[in-house]
Amino acid sequence: MFENLKPVAIDPILGLMIAFKADNRLEKIDLGVGVYQDDRGRTPVMASVKEAEARLMEVETTKSYQGMAGDPDYNHRMLELLFGDEHSILQSGRIKSIQAPGGSGALKVGAEVIRRARPESKLWIGVPTWPNHVPLLGGTGFEIKHYPYYDLESHRIDSDRMIEALKQVPAGDLVLLHGCCHNPTGADLTHDQWDLIADLALERGFIPFIDTAYQGLGDGIDEDAYGMRMMADRLPEVIVASSCSKNFGLYRERTGSITFITKTPQQADIVVSQAMSTARSIYSMPPAHGALLVSMVLGDPDLNHQWRSELEEVRLRIKAMRGLLCDSLAGNPAGMDFGHIKHQKGMFSFLGITSSQLERLREEFGIYIVSSTRINLAGVNSTNIDHLTQSLLKVLQ
Ligand SMILES: Cc1ncc(COP(=O)(O)O)c(C=O)c1O
Repeated sequence: MFENLKPVAIDPILGLMIAFKADNRLEKIDLGVGVYQDDRGRTPVMASVKEAEARLMEVETTKSYQGMAGDPDYNHRMLELLFGDEHSILQSGRIKSIQAPGGSGALKVGAEVIRRARPESKLWIGVPTWPNHVPLLGGTGFEIKHYPYYDLESHRIDSDRMIEALKQVPAGDLVLLHGCCHNPTGADLTHDQWDLIADLALERGFIPFIDTAYQGLGDGIDEDAYGMRMMADRLPEVIVASSCSKNFGLYRERTGSITFITKTPQQADIVVSQAMSTARSIYSMPPAHGALLVSMVLGDPDLNHQWRSELEEVRLRIKAMRGLLCDSLAGNPAGMDFGHIKHQKGMFSFLGITSSQLERLREEFGIYIVSSTRINLAGVNSTNIDHLTQSLLKVLQ
């Protein structure tokens, strides 16, 4: 049965995590793993989430099956969080969402439903992107096309080339966009760029497939939703995969949702029935725990307020680390400009150093960074910033 199987090469980020764990140096720093860390290097359970968990223990009376769409209250509250509770799309009947196992599960269900609706559609993915986009979405059988997104030299969005490429996308194809806090580059679309892509989507007839995994970690909860909310206003069809892994710190609870905006309310009902049948054919029903916590946090005014201020703290800490690292590297012996790190959004940016410099950081200084040079700014803290900048200044000599 299994004799023809070959072992799958270990994921480079997991490989890096293993090497980091095995490293005995006290001053070692992990900038590879993609989770938030506080100033003490911990990935804590948010206090608002912990409180919701305590309350849930009291009020939960059953663990019985919940159904393919998950918790209706969660679905409703997530739509309000994503689009803002005043958004006209919420009253239109043209929007429906179901709970999904994390952002990854949401992307998968979204992709499967698109394949059922229009198997000939191609999926356009920006370069670079979150490495799992291609296996996760390509695994559904899509023909994947790429469009340029980021210029590694200038550390800016490669706007002209991106727009030129999107002008070639045929009607009925999907264009994957990062809602905010682009992973891995940290370079987010400006409002003008979002508007221009919406113009093109209307003109060409392609459909935005927005992956939003970091709402609230960039400029703020509402600010980070600009593109998605504007597109919901202007376009007949939009698909949004969202994740509560980062902004609620619910990583292992696998909490996300997939949202479809359709041309008519009737289509929304049909699409959501297809999404539920897709879920049934993969994992049947989403895990309940994380979604119950999110719906409790969003639904209780005190918990909601507490969560928003905790998330703001996360956002401001990352922003502060961006500024600190950039300023500490000013005047480096290689004359490199790290200004992009200060201005980009969310947890990630490219450092842009060479692979031999990257290797020296790991071998000589115990600083672990993935080969693309993507760093997680949340891995920087007041204890390790000196070791990090001193080591970087040495390898840049
Ligand atoms: C861009 C992007 N999309 C989706 C996800 C998936 O999130 P989840 O852990 O909720 O599946 C991630 C996780 O890192 C991500 O960076």
